[in-house]
Amino acid sequence: MSKLWGGRFEDKSDPAVERFTASISFDQRLWQADIRGSIAWAEALAGAGLLSEAERVQIIAGLQAVADEWEAGIFVLQPGDEDIHTANERRLAEKIGEVAGKLHTGRSRNDQVVTDVRLWLREEIAVLRAALVMLQRVATERAAWSIDLILPGYTHIQRAQPVRFAHWLMAYFWMWQRDRERLDDLSRRMEVCPLGSSALAGTPFAIDRQALAAALGFRAASENSMDAVSDRDFIAEFLAWAALLSIHLSRLAGDLTLWTTAEFGFAGLADAHATGSSIMPQKKNPDPLELARGKAGRLIGDLTALLTTLKGLPLTYNSDLQEDKERLFDAVDTLEATLPVIGAVLAGLRLHPERMAAALSDDLLATDLADYLVRRGIPFRQSHRLVGQAIRRAEAIQVSLRALPPAEYQALSPAFGPDLYEVFDFERSVEQRATIGGTARDAVLEQIRRAGGLLEE
Ligand code: ARG
Repeated sequence: MSKLWGGRFEDKSDPAVERFTASISFDQRLWQADIRGSIAWAEALAGAGLLSEAERVQIIAGLQAVADEWEAGIFVLQPGDEDIHTANERRLAEKIGEVAGKLHTGRSRNDQVVTDVRLWLREEIAVLRAALVMLQRVATERAAWSIDLILPGYTHIQRAQPVRFAHWLMAYFWMWQRDRERLDDLSRRMEVCPLGSSALAGTPFAIDRQALAAALGFRAASENSMDAVSDRDFIAEFLAWAALLSIHLSRLAGDLTLWTTAEFGFAGLADAHATGSSIMPQKKNPDPLELARGKAGRLIGDLTALLTTLKGLPLTYNSDLQEDKERLFDAVDTLEATLPVIGAVLAGLRLHPERMAAALSDDLLATDLADYLVRRGIPFRQSHRLVGQAIRRAEAIQVSLRALPPAEYQALSPAFGPDLYEVFDFERSVEQRATIGGTARDAVLEQIRRAGGLLEE
């Protein structure tokens, strides 16, 4: 089998080297993008007068026939097929003969591959975006139904202040909203067409690159051919996006793996979403959550691998860049598998309001008690200290804050009036936090309303 680049070579290549340098095992999934790019390139060549009408028609029909083989799963790879570009061109030649050799005029695999990856990634981004929106929708719906539930909010994994469960859940909505915005933002920058940059110096033929870019659905043609064939920023941005989204998912998993323990017990996974132990019959493990959390390590690895590959790489194309694709594919596959599972886990989550209520201890209202004194004119630092003293006193006589007698409070400060006990009401506490972004019912409902608007966009 003669190589597409075989002209200057006398000896056959070493099969081990061939195997080592080939990318067909993984880049064949670019087949559709590759055909699409080639059809647009054939049109551009015809536009520049480099193909006759008959040749244009023949090449495009041939490319479509190659695509049909991929589609039907009957494309047969040959031992010499180095990558998707050479495989498609080899097959095209088998179908239409010599004229196939005109397709690669003024083009290089260097501008071809990076065009293909952009076209491919654009489709996957649409899938991922929809999965992300689905997750946001689940969060918003569950938040709306469970607006009444109050549970402890934590700092340092220590009980801190009461919050609405819906407020906690909407925190993830906003992380995912930023993820969505970042995805839209990087998508815009991705809409640049490198095709027509050729190997590195630009194409010598009068290709209308603007029209070519538009035909492939890109916003613009790349501005610099050397940059265009070297640039993998869009993959780095995508992988950074994926890593950050996976970190958000891992934090959700962090919360829920704690909450589904016997110790917390605020929630339980649906049977369909948990797994058992092969030795301990009682176990119900949150495997999907743990794996989602574990995948964050993998996605950070994908980003790190690409950045390390790019660092210090001389312009322009170097074969190191072939390493971009497996990391990208891995990240896309990982997230396309993870997002729907997390959506299902979240939708199926069983909430245990009685356990949430049981965890609401009076100490969660210590700040509210300090705020009570503030409303009576005591500077906050002083009221903080007074409430601290009350807590110490309550611990000494082994009662909760609300059971500490009025005389004890009065002894600490005359600012403590008989109405201080009104503070010991968790609903009242959350309702105090009614400004934008707070955990009061109306503030959370307002978040949910805004979220709904963003979901409709
Ligand atoms: N398989 C190659 C890649 O993935 C395509 C470009 C090859 N170009 C080259 N000059 N060897 O990057």
